[in-house]
Amino acid sequence: MTLPKNFMWGGATAANQLEGAWDLDGKGPAVPDMCTNGTVDRPKRITTTIEPDTLYPSHEAIDFYHHYKEDIALFAEMGFNVFRLSIAWTRIFPTGMEDEPNEAGLAFYDAVFDECKKQGIEPLVTLSHYEMPYALVEKCNGWEGRECIDYFVKYAQVVFDRYQGKVKYWLTFNEINAGTMPMGNVLSVGTVKGYSGPIVGKEDNPQARFQALHHQFVASARVVKLAHERYPDFKLGNMICFLTTYPHTCNPDDILKAQQDMQIKNWLCSDVQVRGAYPSYARRFFADNGITIAMEDGDAADLAAGTVDFYTFSYYMTTCASASESGEWTGGNIAGGVKNPYLESSDWGWQIDAKGLRYTLNEIYDRYGIPLMVVENGLGAFDERKADGTVDDDYRIDYLRRHIAQMEEAVEDGVDLMGYTPWGCIDLVAASTGEMAKRYGFIYVAKYDDGTGDLSRSRKKSFYWYKKVIASNGEDLD
Ligand code: BG6
Repeated sequence: MTLPKNFMWGGATAANQLEGAWDLDGKGPAVPDMCTNGTVDRPKRITTTIEPDTLYPSHEAIDFYHHYKEDIALFAEMGFNVFRLSIAWTRIFPTGMEDEPNEAGLAFYDAVFDECKKQGIEPLVTLSHYEMPYALVEKCNGWEGRECIDYFVKYAQVVFDRYQGKVKYWLTFNEINAGTMPMGNVLSVGTVKGYSGPIVGKEDNPQARFQALHHQFVASARVVKLAHERYPDFKLGNMICFLTTYPHTCNPDDILKAQQDMQIKNWLCSDVQVRGAYPSYARRFFADNGITIAMEDGDAADLAAGTVDFYTFSYYMTTCASASESGEWTGGNIAGGVKNPYLESSDWGWQIDAKGLRYTLNEIYDRYGIPLMVVENGLGAFDERKADGTVDDDYRIDYLRRHIAQMEEAVEDGVDLMGYTPWGCIDLVAASTGEMAKRYGFIYVAKYDDGTGDLSRSRKKSFYWYKKVIASNGEDLD
């Protein structure tokens, strides 16, 4: 199995999950800075103010802010030629609404991109990775407020301008389809004005959520259009949390339920971002659910003009859909589903399905025919660090090996795959639960859920394995 010679190998992260320094050098609070930690059984909470004596995991995270040189050097040692990271909007515009950007924030990413360049690594930058300025939540209930479009376009314009010689690959919103699901209220669209409480189980208002999502679509399209007009070298991608959903049985009711789930959770957003318009099936979904999207003149034209150059997605697990709601329920990324008796699960209940990745790559490529990139994939697991700093994470190697093999099958099937950036290439804070104990990295970070740890970095067994995989361009997976 041969991958293209220029295949992009690397890893993925997000600012709020690794940088720390949440209020340093002028940074303002973002939604994750208002979130406490949780576990698989106890959801994390969002609070309206910072509570005393409460741990907020993003505040220090793994302190990439002060360790970026060491971390990027370790990525280079593994042979990365791409590093996916996000810019914290609140480092550049602390409330999202300032007239002038914060120079200290801009300077930080200059230093990070310069370090990448020095190490021969191409940055792949997400403009918004679950990092909405909290001030915008307070002002206009997050993305429900249409004014967020202009604030976001302005932020994008500033960073495009500043980093045009340093960054070529950009993604607009991380997992934009989170807004199609209730979890998206806190994570993505920020429709949580005045809400304090667990992030799971908050009362959901689909009307507000889908209106907010529409504003993200318009913002994304305008940013893509702007980039295409002013920066011809840039390549702009979307980013979808791909939740592959199989019918639980061959009962036609289950088939239809799976199709509808696939349409609303997965395809709706990328149909808008790749094809440039809402798909036909959205009309019925909105009507059946009492949702009316307020569109302004020019929105449709913006969506049509701002289509992306490449399609990126995260892939961790699959679930089944059942019309009768029979079958055991299992957890998953952003949304759970019915358990598949043929699959095993991680300790967080996410079902492991390497062949599902080949299936998914084929489905997406067949639909859109533009280059694809897997920008997140990996196994969140409990790791045991040995005295010498290593971790025997054969379970992680096994997971990644099986997924890479299926990616290679998909390339043989004819899929145009640009690259692979497994999630959390260095241990970082989990997005869903705010834990450190759920680790994904090739690099172990001594940071624990009670906030302790000296933040030292060490190489896991998977570090050496991934290095070999990259050096052989995916041929040596042993
Ligand atoms: C994706 C997000 O949903 O999954 C990441 O883009 C997140 O931010 C990753 O960390 C894994 O999820 P979790 O909850 O295990 O961190």
